Amino acid sequence: MVRETVLTPSDFVYPLFLHEGSKDQPIESMPGCTRWSLDGLVAEAGAAHALGIPAVVLFPAIVDAQKTPGGEESHNPDGLVPRAVRALKSSHPSLVVITDVALDPYNSDGHDGLVQRGDDGSLTILNDETVEVLCRQAVSHAEAGADVVAPSDMMDGRVAAIRSALDQASFQETSILSYTAKYASAYYGPFRGALGSAPKDGDKKTYQMDPGNAREAIRELLLDEEEGADMVMVKPAGPYLDVISALREATTLPVAAYQVSGEYLMIKSAAAAGWLDEEAVVCESLTGIKRAGADVILSYFAKDVAQRL
Ligand code: PBG
Repeated sequence: MVRETVLTPSDFVYPLFLHEGSKDQPIESMPGCTRWSLDGLVAEAGAAHALGIPAVVLFPAIVDAQKTPGGEESHNPDGLVPRAVRALKSSHPSLVVITDVALDPYNSDGHDGLVQRGDDGSLTILNDETVEVLCRQAVSHAEAGADVVAPSDMMDGRVAAIRSALDQASFQETSILSYTAKYASAYYGPFRGALGSAPKDGDKKTYQMDPGNAREAIRELLLDEEEGADMVMVKPAGPYLDVISALREATTLPVAAYQVSGEYLMIKSAAAAGWLDEEAVVCESLTGIKRAGADVILSYFAKDVAQRL
């Protein structure tokens, strides 16, 4: 009666991995998660939606042969993601389909942006050139029927540029979920294993945020609001509950939080060793994220939890 925070299936976005193959593959770096074939993806998304989960977000594993320095496959209108979006929307019209906008699955450097290498071995991410590619990627997802595009790349100015590219292509109805405060986190390791998308060299610290910074998250928020984001996100979730709270206080936009692969794996592996009670810890960790102020939670546990709720 007096409980303040109650989880419901409608709080969740279910992240799903997909690949070109016709078989569903277990993901070694994320036990319990699957790299789905298109058919498997449609079935899994449908099962989650039937449990009351309103939305999925898609992450493609791209074969090495399609990875290029320019990441051209990212905006192929017949690429894996556009085909998956069409299949999902035709089978489950009421499911909200969110797509990831970033170059790391597609570019041979494994970075979210285009890379320029100096003679001295230095590595620079080309912000504005990257934003142009991201705009094409976002439009190709909207054309396929994506309801929401979610730029996870952390380039500067990309929300405004994507908004205007979508509008010019007559996709005024397509929303933008911005990864607003995305930290340069070691918790993404298992995800990069799932997609084979780890950076070939260097790190992501020139575009993702310093874990020591909270005020900077507000600065990112103000920019994203100004640029036209419809929802903002904090990522990872558990180690950044203060940042979720701060964003919740500072904006009227919906705030999403992403319980990332490393957070998932810590719980899974401790439970597999018999050290933690998985169901209880999953519920507690997600309740904590919602209590901190998240309106929407992206979690690999979404379907399990919805089943229990
Ligand atoms: C990359 C992207 C990452 C995740 C989502 N989109 C990894 C990264 O930035 O290196 C991580 C999600 C997770 O760890 O669950 N655009």
